[in-house]
Amino acid sequence: MARVRELLDIGISRLRESGSETARLDAELLLAHALDVDRTAVLAHTDAPVGDGAAARFQASLDRRAAGEPVAYIRGIKEFHGLAFGVDARALIPRPETERLVELTELEIVRRLLGAPRPAGSPPVRVIDVGVGGGAVAVTLAVLLRRRGMLDEVALAATDLSDDALQLARENAVAHAVGDRIAFSTADLLPGSETAGWDVVAANLPYVRSAVMPTLPIAASFEPATALDGGPDGLAVIGRLLEQLPDALATDGVALLEIGGDQETELRALATERLPGWLCEVERDLGGLPRVAVLRREGTDATSPAA
Ligand SMILES: C[S@@+](CC[C@H](N)C(=O)[O-])C[C@H]1O[C@@H](n2cnc3c(N)ncnc32)[C@H](O)[C@@H]1O
Repeated sequence: MARVRELLDIGISRLRESGSETARLDAELLLAHALDVDRTAVLAHTDAPVGDGAAARFQASLDRRAAGEPVAYIRGIKEFHGLAFGVDARALIPRPETERLVELTELEIVRRLLGAPRPAGSPPVRVIDVGVGGGAVAVTLAVLLRRRGMLDEVALAATDLSDDALQLARENAVAHAVGDRIAFSTADLLPGSETAGWDVVAANLPYVRSAVMPTLPIAASFEPATALDGGPDGLAVIGRLLEQLPDALATDGVALLEIGGDQETELRALATERLPGWLCEVERDLGGLPRVAVLRREGTDATSPAA
């Protein structure tokens, strides 16, 4: 019977040959998946024997990874903001950069709830995640707000063009016990005017330039192209959302939009053109890159006397 160390060595060489730049990590995660344990158990028990069934599952996973499939799809799980999300080809694998969007959106909601006295019976803060994908943003927000005891004061909604993605998002919401706390719907960006008046819009929409798509790592080809391709300049979908904001956002509402690390200048220009008189701040991620554009009408920012 093969031992953990031998299988890891075989896996690492196989994945290195196939071009993986994270061969060791991938092999450890995939062996842990085959054994149904976590990665630390694999690292701690390198002398342990591995049964034939687990060895065969590991081999099958190596075949998929060597063909370029992302580890997250093979494992069927991805950690995001400390939570486990089910992932598969129905939606984009959540990226660590998006945790910044979640943090800023949570802060914005908390500021609204705590910043001024809220008389009993105040309407909930209305928040929508546009392009929910597998649910990383909306579901994490719901979990974080529940931990703060604030979920009852927030009405959360989420849209996507893709019914497949919405179905995965619903599954993740149920898995995190917030399935009944998010109103999911199919929509092209924001839903119709009858739901206007959003206090907070959060969106991680596609922003990869079309010409860059073929140059992405092969793993990205397993993800839905509609989740990544942002048109010729990468900002086609975000630009359409900007056009919807004046009618859709409450007077003092705010939109937080994830952008590519090299898109700040283009995004600012687009905001000036489509939202004249609005404020546009760009927040950076942990790597120091511009990552989240924050848009609101002038005179409604937190520090403004008119707010
Ligand atoms: C970059 S993925 C983000 C998914 C998820 N929010 C996350 O952060 O992991 C973009 C998502 O936007 C959706 N999308 C693309 N165009 C859209 C549109 N016009 N209206 C609504 N959703 C759209 C895609 O289907 C995809 O699920």
